[in-house]
Amino acid sequence: MRERLGVIGGSGVYTLSGLADAEWVTVETPWGAPSDAILTGTLDGQPMAFLPRHGRGHVHTPAEVPYRANIAALKMLGVTDIVAVSACGSFREEMAPGDFVLVDQFIDRTRLRPASFFGKGCVAHVSMAHPVCARLSGIAGDAAEATGVTVHRGGTYLAMEGPQFSTLAESRMYREVWGADVIGMTNMPEAKLAREAECCYAPVAMVTDYDCWHPGHDAVEVADVIRVLGANADHARALVRGLPARLAARPAPCPCGCDRALEHAIITAPEA
Ligand code: ADE
Repeated sequence: MRERLGVIGGSGVYTLSGLADAEWVTVETPWGAPSDAILTGTLDGQPMAFLPRHGRGHVHTPAEVPYRANIAALKMLGVTDIVAVSACGSFREEMAPGDFVLVDQFIDRTRLRPASFFGKGCVAHVSMAHPVCARLSGIAGDAAEATGVTVHRGGTYLAMEGPQFSTLAESRMYREVWGADVIGMTNMPEAKLAREAECCYAPVAMVTDYDCWHPGHDAVEVADVIRVLGANADHARALVRGLPARLAARPAPCPCGCDRALEHAIITAPEA
């Protein structure tokens, strides 16, 4: 069987159409229930699993999303590769609302979310130096470009706790001092957990606004975000439809090492 491709849909992306043998399946994990049932099926012969991060109806805040259960559920369904779609604000003039950013680095400012599968007698430290699978991100970038959307390959994502947006001082600091390119509330700890689960992970951040640093734009409002989200979501769905054709049989081992992340990470003695 071909490897299963997982897609995590962010704000505005709550389902996927066009899957053969589509079925919403309920999965229970040792970390509880995921955000929602998971839509399984095949797309052009590619086994797929789609999970709406906030649940259908958008019922989980960024801090309430059960990130561990989400990644565990996808893993239990045989997912090896995860394309994670989310909305974001932009700190760069050239990363305009409507553009897609293939994020390749993170600054994690979340603080209320369980961020590891380890603990309770089993200690592991995975590398997060390169948190994104370059191979999968490249494929997602090609699929995104084919939709006609403007794509930026590479960018640093500031993951904030939310649910409030940033203050002006924070926005300026993230942009000018910390060098972040985009800001969002959901890609962490998702990326860390995907790494611990030895899944390839590629975020696709869809710009909805300029946050509040931009002198030419008003402070970010949900209404603005939702307006841009509609068009972004159409492009995101087109991007996903373009993935199977580009996702040639996954080279094993993954050239980026994502599928071996735990090889030298567990520090607890086996007999402990
Ligand atoms: N999601 C979309 N826009 C955002 C912003 N400006 N800050 C944080 N999360 C966002």
